[in-house]
Amino acid sequence: MTHGSVGSRIERVLLSEEAIRVRVAELVELIKADLGELDPVIVALLKGSIVFLADLIRGFDRPLAFDFVGVSSYGDGTSPGEEIALTKELSVDIAGRHVLVVDDILDTGRTLRHVLRYLEVFRPASVRTCVLLDKRARRDVAVEPDYTGFEIGDEFVVGYGMDFADHYRNLPYIGVLAQGR
Ligand code: PRP
Repeated sequence: MTHGSVGSRIERVLLSEEAIRVRVAELVELIKADLGELDPVIVALLKGSIVFLADLIRGFDRPLAFDFVGVSSYGDGTSPGEEIALTKELSVDIAGRHVLVVDDILDTGRTLRHVLRYLEVFRPASVRTCVLLDKRARRDVAVEPDYTGFEIGDEFVVGYGMDFADHYRNLPYIGVLAQGR
């Protein structure tokens, strides 16, 4: 599949629509089995998680609340002194609730760690984490997701919500961006 000039800069498809669909369905079943009768509140991190979130929530056949937290990092992504700021705060009450944090990709782990610390202040009953992609080799803080779609290598991936300079988020698959971009 091509997406005109945008799609043409994709070097290769890393995860096809079908591979993603199958794995997301598996994740839904794992999460449902762990939740039992509990009603979760999903907290998704803007913006990259929105496509994953949209597919994930449609697998649930029960009441489900969700909200967004906006996160922005300042720096080159490799500096230990990098600052992370919230650009959108939580707008639902998660006190005593069972929270599932959803994100598209776990890289250094700093974003997720920051958000987990932020959420704890609201005294949720429990917090679990679900990431579609885990770039494990890049981790520099101790964060371990409860649910992982795929472990991937240290490649620049786009599509299915993930961007390069705000392009490619709408690709239905996950691709590796060509070098020399
Ligand atoms: C990506 C991704 C995670 C974060 C992971 O967000 O969605 O939230 O980076 O990186 P880390 O583990 O090194 O902290 P990005 O900054 O690309 O913003 P976006 O989701 O709005 O595209």
